[in-house]
Formats: sequence, C-alpha cells, structure tokens
Amino acid sequence: MCGIVGILGKEAVATQVVEALRRLEYRGYDSAGVATLEGGLLTRRRAEGKLKNLEIRLSNEPLEGLIGIGHTRWATHGKPNETNAHPHATERLAVVHNGIIENFRELRAELEADGHVFQTETDTEVVAHLVTREMDRGKDAAAAVGASLPLLRGAFALAFLFQGEEDLLIGARRGSPLAVGIGDGEMYLGSDALALAPFTNLIAYLEEGDWVVLNRKGASFFDKANKPVTRRAQRVAAGAFLVEKGNHRHFMAKEIYEQPEVVGHTLTQYLDMVAGKVRLPFEAKFDWQALSRLSVSACGTAYYAGLTAKYWFEKLARLPVEIDVASEFRYREAPLPKDGLALFVSQSGETADTLACLRYARQEQQHVLSVVNVTTSTIARESDVVAPTLAGPEIGVASTKAFTCQLTTLACLALAAARARGAITAEDEARHVQNLIALPGLMAKALELEPQIEALARELSKARDVLYLGRGTSFPMALEGALKLKEISYIHAEGYPAGELKHGPIALIDEAMPVIVIAPHDALFEKTASNMQEVAARGGRIILITDARGAAECGITPEATIVMPDMDPLFAPIVYALPIQMIAYQTAVFMGKDVDQPRNLAKSVTVE
Ligand code: F6R
Repeated sequence: MCGIVGILGKEAVATQVVEALRRLEYRGYDSAGVATLEGGLLTRRRAEGKLKNLEIRLSNEPLEGLIGIGHTRWATHGKPNETNAHPHATERLAVVHNGIIENFRELRAELEADGHVFQTETDTEVVAHLVTREMDRGKDAAAAVGASLPLLRGAFALAFLFQGEEDLLIGARRGSPLAVGIGDGEMYLGSDALALAPFTNLIAYLEEGDWVVLNRKGASFFDKANKPVTRRAQRVAAGAFLVEKGNHRHFMAKEIYEQPEVVGHTLTQYLDMVAGKVRLPFEAKFDWQALSRLSVSACGTAYYAGLTAKYWFEKLARLPVEIDVASEFRYREAPLPKDGLALFVSQSGETADTLACLRYARQEQQHVLSVVNVTTSTIARESDVVAPTLAGPEIGVASTKAFTCQLTTLACLALAAARARGAITAEDEARHVQNLIALPGLMAKALELEPQIEALARELSKARDVLYLGRGTSFPMALEGALKLKEISYIHAEGYPAGELKHGPIALIDEAMPVIVIAPHDALFEKTASNMQEVAARGGRIILITDARGAAECGITPEATIVMPDMDPLFAPIVYALPIQMIAYQTAVFMGKDVDQPRNLAKSVTVE
C-alpha cells in the first residue's frame, strides 16, 4: 500500500506535495519521490527511506514547478532503493502508483520487444512505457491513458504528469482508492481525503474503474468504458478526515470496497513478488517440519478464517490441524503435543476467549503464533510470533476486510509451512504465489457484481430464514455468509456443509426459504450440484454463487446466479467472501438496519 498525490497549483508545489505525502506516510515509508515540470521538463527528486530524506534532498536541490506528483512507497516489486522509488518516468511522462500490476511481466516482455528500455525492477514502470507507446503512436495524453488502462490486470491507483503539459494531471482507480480535491484555481489528487485536508475539503471520489483528467478549471471523469461520467463533489466535515466513509454510505461498504487494496498490501508483506516466493517477515520461532499438529482457535468470523486455513494447511503442508471456537477450546483441557504450535486469529487482538486460549496454550508450553490486525493488542503482545494482517482500522462492527486479510495471511503461512515441510515443489510454490498475486484484481472484478446483488437483496429481505451451503473451503464461506446476514439484517440464517443437507436440514426446504449455494467449479462441484438437485426437487429457491463453468454445468435453473470471475479454486474463498458480504450488506441496507452498529454487538468482545 503506497500513498499518491498530485497537485496542479498556482505556486511551486513541491512543498505541498511533501506535506500531503506526510499525511500518507502511514501507507508506506520505504522511499519517497516527487516529480514536477521545471520549464516544461519532467524533473524528479527521489530518496530511499523515510520522507525526511526526500525533504533534505529537496532543500539541497529545490523544485519550482507549479504542477507535480508525489509518492510514498511500500515496496512490492523491487528493493526499496532510489532507483525503484516512484515517480517512474519516460521522456514523455512520470507516473506514481499504488497497488499491483499483475501482468507486468508479460507487458514488460512485449514492450522490451518493441524497443522500450527499462530502468527498474518495478511493476509500475510498465505503466509509464505503455502510455508512452500509445503517445508515440500519435495519441494525446488522455487518449493514451484511456487506451492503456484496459491492458492492465490487477488492482491499482495511478497519477500521471506529462512533459510540457503545465495544466494536465491524469488519475485512475481500479481496486485502490483515489480522491480528487477541488480548490480555488487549484486541483488535487490523493490516495485519501486526509492527504488533501490542508488544501481543500471539497472532495470527489473516483468510482471503481474510473479515470479522471484534471486541469486548473476542473475535472473530467470517465468510467472504465471511457465514457464521460459525473462524480459529485462533497464537503468533508472537519474532523471526519481521519476515519471517513469516502463516498460510501456506511463504513461496512467502504471496508468491503477497500479489500482489493488491503489484501494487496497484506500480500506484499508475505510474498517476494519478483521471485514468486513466500517470504515471511519474521523468523519463525518454531520448526514447521517438526510439528505434528497445529491447534487453531478464534471466535466468530476469525474462527471461519481459521477453519478455511485448516483446508490449506492440511492440503498444502500435510500438517494436521485441530480447530475449535475459543469459548470451547479454553475449557476443554485439550492435551496439546509437546513443542506444538498454537495459532490464534483475531482482528482486535483483545477477544477475551481467544486470549484465554492463548494463555492456556502458553501454560501447556506451546509456541504461540497469532494473526492479528491490531498489532499493539494484548494477543499480539503475548505471542511469540505475530503475523499482522494489514487491513487498517476496521470500524464497521461486522468484519469484512479483516476477514479477507486474515485469509490472505493464513494462505501465505500455509504456503510457507508447505515449503518448509517439503510438501510442495518450487514450481508449485511459484504457481500458488501467482494465484495469490491475482487476488486483488479478481476482488475488484467481484465488486462489479454489486448492482445484481442489490436487486437480489430486495428479494432476500422478505425471507424469514436463509440457508447457506458449501463444500470444502466453501463450507466456512457458507458459515460466514450466514453469520454476516444474521448479525446485520437480523434474518435467521444457517450455514451447512452441502453434504450434510440430507442429514436433517433438507426438512426445512420449501418455496419460502432461499438457499444460497457457494460453489466455484472445483473438484467438489459435481457433489454440490447433486445437492442442488435435491433442493430443486423439493421446490427450493436456489441462489448460486459460482463461475461461468459452474453456471453452465449446474444442471438446474437457479432463481439467481452470481457469476464470479474465473480463478484457481484453492484460494477462491478470499474472493468469494465479497459477494457474501455484499449480500448481507445490501439486504440490511434495504431493510433500513444500522449496518455499522448492529444491535447487541460490539467490535471488541473483551468479556466472556
Ligand atoms: C463478525 C465479527 C465477529 C468477530 C469476533 C472475533 O462479523 O466481527 O464474529 O469476528 O468477535 O473478533 P476478533 O477477530 O476481534 O477476535
């Protein structure tokens, strides 16, 4: 996760760019850089390390340009040195980027074959060269950006500055946020409104897939099909900058939409994207190879993340996993293997039951590993090793982005365990890493399903009970789907393994109860398809969440089918979590419920 800024000013902008970057430094601080136009010529100052190094650089070699872009970096592709620091530039343009360009290798090879010479190891530089190629072919800057964006796969936000163009900045958003600030004869771009707070509180947000052309008179917005669109500017109330909802109605919606970005950020923590390997940022204080079992405990949504990870640890690392909800585990007096590893998953890091399990595990001389979002929390402090999820603050009581970041972290841990235990080959690891790198882009695509889900939610809001079914890693998603719907819409819902249907819950099937089936076309799809037949035969109403192949081969006519993008099934839960969350969110909103603060619940459950 990096921070990006752009300013079209009336006076020299470098100081303002740095000021905005300081407000974004929480997003990354491996290196920083600024580019301005000095007499029309692109000029860059960049520095390794924290922003203050860039400030020193700028005080020695000041910039005078009235237009500029800036970046504070969290390294993804390439070491955090000056060469890899943004902005990246060609003779025509400079660009700053937040996110991951998934297909940069293919694009780079293609551009190199066309004679483009690259200076860095970054994925960002391909964007600079792609747009340059379009300009070399005769397009103006806006047309070149419009032609290049569809070639990029992944989740990103971008800001461009062009040689000789004193009144032009272009920004683009797919999966990572970007705000436009409107001043008095000045215009701004920033990763969030907070970055722009010293300059303006009149903010317009780019929507998913949008790009924007700025000059000092205003902004022209385009959607992903390059059609002009209107994006309304709004005043952000003073004091609302730190935790603001952007253009979303609720924190929960904002947090659902942040997922491509925060999952991307979490991946950068655990993967070496250039080498295609898992790289844990901590030294494991235990020996994966020597472990006979992994014991996992957590509560609620965090427990479902752990349950999903059980499938990954067992399949990939051949490591047996025992998992229980923390409120049960803590009183079971479970015998734990000597020198075992106990894993705890918690967003808040303060959940009383999970903490009690941790203390029990410690008493039983287990190594303690925790996956937490709040790294200053008690669970983090009492663990031997902390694997942070980089979801950022989660304000909505119903967990969304923390869940997918927990899944992402656990997937990386399972891969690290698999490698350490010799259970996968280097080729397998590289393939799995590529599939993980694809997740933010797939999540951005899944978010495009919102209009369909909104329509579906109107129907669901009439239901008294809803059943969720899934097999394999889709089973924990069924549990999570039911929990999300219950907690914010107050509709009764149950999650079941699809194979258990005939052992009882099938008695509930009638034409009144929607059955939401989560079934990517994986090795278990045919089995789930048989269960859908059983539901259909009893007049049940099926809502199927699957991919194109699953939709074609399900053998029934569901009431609705949500068709997800194609992906490798192993880590599919990380993407399938999104429609599940959107179903609960849209249903609750349609019913007029308080989605951010549902009744009887608390964000951090510090009591038993
Ligand atoms: C559900 C939800 C809860 C939490 C649970 C554990 O949306 O948010 O079920 O997942 O209370 O909380 P943490 O992760 O803070 O330990």
